[in-house]
Amino acid sequence: MGATDFRQDTALRLILIGPPGAGKGTQAARLRERYQLAHISTGDMLREEVRRQTPHGRQAQALMAAGKLVPDALILEMIGVRLSQPDVSRGFMLDGFPRSQPQAAELCRLLAGQARRLQAVIQLKLDDEEIVRRLSLRRSCPECGRVYHLCSNPPRQTGACDADGHSLVHREDDNELTIRTRLAVYHEQTEPVVEFFSRRGLLRTVDASRPIEHVEHYVERALQAALAQTSPVRNLYRVAVSKRRSRGGSLRA
Ligand code: AP5
Ligand code: MG
Repeated sequence: MGATDFRQDTALRLILIGPPGAGKGTQAARLRERYQLAHISTGDMLREEVRRQTPHGRQAQALMAAGKLVPDALILEMIGVRLSQPDVSRGFMLDGFPRSQPQAAELCRLLAGQARRLQAVIQLKLDDEEIVRRLSLRRSCPECGRVYHLCSNPPRQTGACDADGHSLVHREDDNELTIRTRLAVYHEQTEPVVEFFSRRGLLRTVDASRPIEHVEHYVERALQAALAQTSPVRNLYRVAVSKRRSRGGSLRA
């Protein structure tokens, strides 16, 4: 694609960034339904590699259990493959990637090489003590990755996934010691990535301490504000909104 293709680019591409437990996966699931975007979660991809005990999975397993980052080279190899798959051409949402400066730089290089651009980086902000409380009560479906919270977002039937009935699990890295290591890693290695996107004018921040539906509303507003700056995508977005309205859906702006 040549330089002019940037102007015709209508696919929606965004990053959800934030500390562990801020609600990236929860909000991504809602955005995926609304915009039919590919949801690319490096954490989910890695857990699948671990489950299948692939070479990548075996390399990542102990680091994930300890709450440390998996090497950039492994992540970038996985992401390179994923971003070349056909479903991402309609747009995508990155969740949990990039989380180091080399990952951010490589993502920008990769997208520029394909004449693709990011429309927004949405940061979910939550303080450390609330994160420890949230993650201690999280339960996840090992089959489909759907997440629940025993108080704020419980499954309809105790212990079973609403989508596929599988028994829910408490993630191995959701114990207090590992959560605190993950938080330290986030502050040290991922906050500079937030700064990196802020300097490029892409960052929108949402307070993630509110109830899930409120956060969803502010994420949507942040997205609208970002899209208002990029006209071809804004046009696509208007189409999505008018289709939703004609189906009886509402847009809370
Ligand atoms: P990953 O799976 O990405 O974990 P994370 O970033 O630590 O984030 P979480 O999935 O724990 O939280 P979330 O923000 O998705 O919150 P959720 O929506 O579930 O990564 C795991 C590991 O893989 C890493 O530690 C690392 O080892 C490795 N890794 C992954 N990507 C990597 C990369 N790029 N580079 C290197 N290593 C990588 O919500 C949390 C809970 O809160 C749930 O119970 C939910 O129901 C509840 N909740 C959500 N929103 C609300 C709300 N508004 N109010 C109340 N409760 C809420
Ligand atoms: Mg997640």
